[in-house]
Amino acid sequence: MQQVPSSIAVPRTPELLRDFEQFKQLLKRRVGLDLDQYKFEQTYRRIYTMMERAGYRKFTDYFSYLASDEARMRGFIDRLAINVSELFRNPEQFEIVRVQVLPDLLKRSLHLKLWSAGCSYGAEAYSLAILVHELAPSRSHQILGTDIDQEVLERARRGVFAESDMRSVPADYKQKYFRAFEEGGRTLYEADPMLKRYLKFERHNLLADPYAQGFDLIACRNVVIYFSDEAKERVFREFYNALKPGGYLFLGNTERIFHYAQIGFENPSAFFYRKPQQEVQRWRNAS
Ligand SMILES: C[S@@+](CC[C@H](N)C(=O)[O-])C[C@H]1O[C@@H](n2cnc3c(N)ncnc32)[C@H](O)[C@@H]1O
Repeated sequence: MQQVPSSIAVPRTPELLRDFEQFKQLLKRRVGLDLDQYKFEQTYRRIYTMMERAGYRKFTDYFSYLASDEARMRGFIDRLAINVSELFRNPEQFEIVRVQVLPDLLKRSLHLKLWSAGCSYGAEAYSLAILVHELAPSRSHQILGTDIDQEVLERARRGVFAESDMRSVPADYKQKYFRAFEEGGRTLYEADPMLKRYLKFERHNLLADPYAQGFDLIACRNVVIYFSDEAKERVFREFYNALKPGGYLFLGNTERIFHYAQIGFENPSAFFYRKPQQEVQRWRNAS
């Protein structure tokens, strides 16, 4: 059988690699984005492709092109981040959130504070808003959605989703929380504005900005897959600190924390990590 290459090879000469190093330094100085914290292969390939499409053959020339226009630079950073998402992505995991995680948290907290970190255009944050509203509607919960990409945050604030975002939304929720309308020959779904009272969307770079504290649940799914191992480790420790005792970290389908016990987490079920009620700040004491 013929092998289909999983990715298109891009040139990687010593000159290009040196040039890429310089590009990374320039980018860090100019916009504070540290590409060393992302996986090299994917980042190099993605930027090379963007550079080629823009008609450049040297990363540093491409940098000058980007830096000469602020909107162009912002567009570049936004495209670097992959924004794929959908409501109730991996529904079986959201079912665990509905039947185990949120009821457990609601036993201890009247008002929940949740964070969808790397929220893209908000599908995950709206899914969480629906679940907390279903379980404890008359309370003032807060759901923070953050992302490095400004453009997706604008979309998140609007709360309008495509048909493809809706395929895992249970039929009764679709009926109850979304208004379908036609636009440009497509059916779109607007989330009930009532859900927005729980939601706030802000820009936050997980690799550079300080973390807020006191969360009952942090969902960070399909985000750290792009980070280097060191960056991942740091982000998980930051999440641990940002959680209340008894709070949960909810990861994506392909993500695991191998050294979760060293950080202090318990692992009650796949994809869910819990900060113990009796907080053991082992790593902090050790450092
Ligand atoms: C694949 S989407 C995941 C969306 C949602 N969490 C889900 O699982 O459906 C990954 C998101 O991570 C964001 N991201 C990448 N690097 C980031 C960083 N350093 N800080 C914050 N968000 C980041 C991207 O902009 C993108 O919107």
